Amino acid sequence: MPRVRAARAIAAVITGDSTLDEALERHTARLAGRDRALAREIAFGVCRRYFELDALLAQLLQRPLKARDADLRAVLLAGLYQLRHLRVPDHAAVSESVAACAALGKGWARGLVNAVLRAHQARRAELEARLDEAERLAHPRWLIDALRADWPADWEAIVAANNAAPPLTLRVNTARTSRAQWLATADAAGIEAHPCALAEDGVTLAEASEVVRIPGFADGLVSVQDEGAQLAATLLGCGGDQRVLDACAAPGGKACHLLERHPALRLGALDASAARLERVRQNLARLALEATLLHGDAADPATWWNGEPFAHILVDAPCSGTGVIRRHPDIRILRDAEQVAAAAALQRRILRGLWPCLAPGGQLLYATCSVLACENEGTIADFLSATPDAHEIDPGVAWGRARAHGRQLLPTPDRHDGFYYALLVKDGVRELA
Ligand SMILES: C[S@@+](CC[C@H](N)C(=O)[O-])C[C@H]1O[C@@H](n2cnc3c(N)ncnc32)[C@H](O)[C@@H]1O
Repeated sequence: MPRVRAARAIAAVITGDSTLDEALERHTARLAGRDRALAREIAFGVCRRYFELDALLAQLLQRPLKARDADLRAVLLAGLYQLRHLRVPDHAAVSESVAACAALGKGWARGLVNAVLRAHQARRAELEARLDEAERLAHPRWLIDALRADWPADWEAIVAANNAAPPLTLRVNTARTSRAQWLATADAAGIEAHPCALAEDGVTLAEASEVVRIPGFADGLVSVQDEGAQLAATLLGCGGDQRVLDACAAPGGKACHLLERHPALRLGALDASAARLERVRQNLARLALEATLLHGDAADPATWWNGEPFAHILVDAPCSGTGVIRRHPDIRILRDAEQVAAAAALQRRILRGLWPCLAPGGQLLYATCSVLACENEGTIADFLSATPDAHEIDPGVAWGRARAHGRQLLPTPDRHDGFYYALLVKDGVRELA
């Protein structure tokens, strides 16, 4: 029953037990095609509209549900989502939600679910009139405040992009084919796609598709990767058999892209999470690429570095993910302002820790999928002011917005996610080897 599986996945996210991707994997992997698609649509939709739906639900309930009834809350949120945002007949949305109670072993709640969903239909305009700005925009208040402070002229466009469905963008494996060749194959298979404007190896599909239906996916000719993420491999400017470190590598999207473009690189792929490092190993294996996997804290090289300097370092730092909310709508539920501050502190520690690993004249590319200044130009400003042999260099690109340091892409409908890049160089004579 897709609605019950969706409710279980939503409950795992709203209780903070799990990310949406993990919860969907756990609860919907064994559903058949259309049922799985419906469960995913409902779970994604509830996370995307959570702050709106939850505020409506609070008005409709006479008293809050108990903590142990998070699954029931999820059924109600899913019912409201279907009534408000899906083309499901109202009676079906209500009756299926009522039926889900028994499947969850909570038959006692059937009357409650029926009454709440019917009351929503009867009082919809009055309930909506009481939503505040952040609830209407389906974002947490702290995030609306932060976006408005950092992007006074753009915050509403960022919010609108966050609330829209993202495009499906692929990276063509140029070690095996060319972008033009792959586009011709896709065209012959009846799949409409176009080249990305900014990413040399990127193509965006006109319509979402299951990856198994994408020509060449199983053979490693293409991988799923946003256009903004694909810019790292060109900005890093490495080549030949240089020693390169991808300091926050998992699940390996950017590491694989670097190796597809430069198969002779001696790439170290470091990550603090052993479980996530396993995903790097799987992705390298799928694409028949090789890297040295390193497990450790990028801020503490003593535990994983052999002392040989790297010519280039990519720091795709752990961050709030506020540039990729449209792909990971649970970010708005799972993150808070304190976690952003903690991520910003970790980014500063990682840059400080890694700097001695960079060769004189070497380059470090700092990247995040955040749109918040404290994790982007703020991190770089603090690092530069504390590091006399570090300087920013101009990557010579015209895309995005120039910030006090680095460049920012904002999430854009039908195009790239929100990404930030800054390129730094270390004083000294650059070794070309
Ligand atoms: C934004 S993700 C990297 C995405 C990856 N570069 C890609 O393109 O697929 C950030 C990664 O940093 C890792 N991480 C977090 N703290 C770290 C630390 N102190 N040292 C190294 N890696 C860390 C996380 O486990 C996570 O896999």
